[in-house]
Amino acid sequence: MELRDIGCTGLRVSALGFGAMHINDERVGEDEAGRLLNAVLDLGINLIDTARSYGLSEERIGRHLAHRRGDFVLSTKVGYGVDGVPDWTYDCIVGGVERALRLMRTDWLDIVHLHSCPLQTLQADEVIRALDDCRRAGKLRVAAYSGDNAELAAALDDSRFGAVQTSISVCDQINLSENLPRAAERGMGVIAKRPLAGAVWRHAQRPDDFAEGQYWDRWQAMGLDAQIAPEARTEIALRFVAHLPGVASSIVGTSKLANLQQNLALLAKGPLPAAQQAALRQVFADKQAAWAGLI
Ligand SMILES: NC(=O)c1ccc[n+]([C@@H]2O[C@H](COP(=O)([O-])OP(=O)(O)OC[C@H]3O[C@@H](n4cnc5c(N)ncnc54)[C@H](OP(=O)(O)O)[C@@H]3O)[C@@H](O)[C@H]2O)c1
Repeated sequence: MELRDIGCTGLRVSALGFGAMHINDERVGEDEAGRLLNAVLDLGINLIDTARSYGLSEERIGRHLAHRRGDFVLSTKVGYGVDGVPDWTYDCIVGGVERALRLMRTDWLDIVHLHSCPLQTLQADEVIRALDDCRRAGKLRVAAYSGDNAELAAALDDSRFGAVQTSISVCDQINLSENLPRAAERGMGVIAKRPLAGAVWRHAQRPDDFAEGQYWDRWQAMGLDAQIAPEARTEIALRFVAHLPGVASSIVGTSKLANLQQNLALLAKGPLPAAQQAALRQVFADKQAAWAGLI
């Protein structure tokens, strides 16, 4: 598995990461979640991304992978959901980090993101200071921001962040022209979230989920059903994002081992031919003025 530097953090992550959002509830059984998480590491993936809001995900990572903690880079997100403490305050960030350490049965977190707080909260500085204090205390290695648009631009201007997580896919290309080069200039690592745009081509009807619904609209508007054969859609979407200069890892979310294995095989095919990559960028460029990044 290809490992890449995540900015200047000193951490190296696999080009394909595991988005652990879909092991959030009992639709994936406990044993199945354990098998999937262990398979992730056995297959050479070393980046696992979770969050406070992903239901059972953090707890399951602790339960099934604590004994292999040295084998992977653990990324999570905080900012809300700590009992007795208002969201997006100093104490909530520190409490969120402590909670994640406890749930995931570990002494340290590798990357901790502020999970998409509004611009005003970011600019008020309290939450960044709290995260940075946790880093100084050795509870986490890299303070990071997860989000898009104006908030992401502000985060890229703050050297206390070592990495960012943002939406990048065939249907979400706003970061390609400015933010990816800017992150590279500043030595910040970039994790691409929602890299398959939720694989919306699988749905005959517009999905109810907010982001997936938007991606479904974009996929239709870009005419991609007509341009890409059904059996090639996952491959093209994954190869489009995973080899973009400046993207350290693409954290595809899946609940299925077979899809995880397929994604690894597709990634190994390398970048798309330049003309195909350029054509996908052009079809988005015709629309992108109206299409902001989807949180
Ligand atoms: N920071 C944030 O605010 C934020 C927001 C959203 C997501 N994220 C992170 O990004 C990760 C990925 O986002 P996401 O899961 O929303 O979107 P995604 O990775 O673009 O797409 C995930 C969907 O693609 C399907 N899929 C995966 N591999 C496939 C394959 N080979 N063939 C067909 N379908 C396939 C999965 O279904 P199956 O389960 O059936 O495989 C899942 O429904 C999350 O897990 C999370 O870690 C972060």
